Amino acid sequence: MKADPAPLPRILVLASGQGSNLQALIDASRERDFPGQIIAVGCNRPGAFALERAGQANIESFVVDHTRFDSREAFDAQLMAEIRRRDPDVIVLAGFMRILTTDFVRAFRGRMLNVHPSLLPRYTGLNTHQRALDAGDRVHGTSVHFVTEELDGGPVIAQAEVTIEPNDTADTLAEKVQAQEHVLYPVVLRWFCEGRIQLGADGVLFDGAPLRAPLILPAS
Ligand code: GRF
Repeated sequence: MKADPAPLPRILVLASGQGSNLQALIDASRERDFPGQIIAVGCNRPGAFALERAGQANIESFVVDHTRFDSREAFDAQLMAEIRRRDPDVIVLAGFMRILTTDFVRAFRGRMLNVHPSLLPRYTGLNTHQRALDAGDRVHGTSVHFVTEELDGGPVIAQAEVTIEPNDTADTLAEKVQAQEHVLYPVVLRWFCEGRIQLGADGVLFDGAPLRAPLILPAS
């Protein structure tokens, strides 16, 4: 008799807006050999298109509306309760526009990923595309990293680059960067679900060995 296959890692995605990264993850997770399953999508904005995408894909979704809470702590406590109830193995932040409290981040240490639209450590925070243009950068991109207490400061796993052309604007760059995110994030999530990447005491471990520098998907 064949043994039952091990259950796939449970992925919970948090999003706030358009959810184009969520869509890329949904599409990837539909591939037959994808080593994880998206079990739920959480959102802090009731009307966000990300919720629609979850619905279209028959994935359960929930909303914790941050405007209904007096404090960040109260919001995070409710979000944490909703997440815990669904018992995910990994939390994937995909355009989730809330700063999380230290307690929340610590509770999911090593099990929470984020995508940030810059080549970290450059340009943490907002307006990354305009800041790259203003600095005269030739290369820009996106990073997938483990979430730690430091905003956009957790160990970077992988990056995808984008060449900045003379006629690029913040909008055209945003588009190019997002296209790269849609390739990069599913790849990193796959590695995570396969157990290939972990957060060690001193940074990222890839196949059990310290990752000295982020893996790079070069600009095409
Ligand atoms: C992405 O560009 C991501 O880097 C940033 O927010 C954006 C989300 O876009 N954190 P979407 O909601 O996935 O379309």
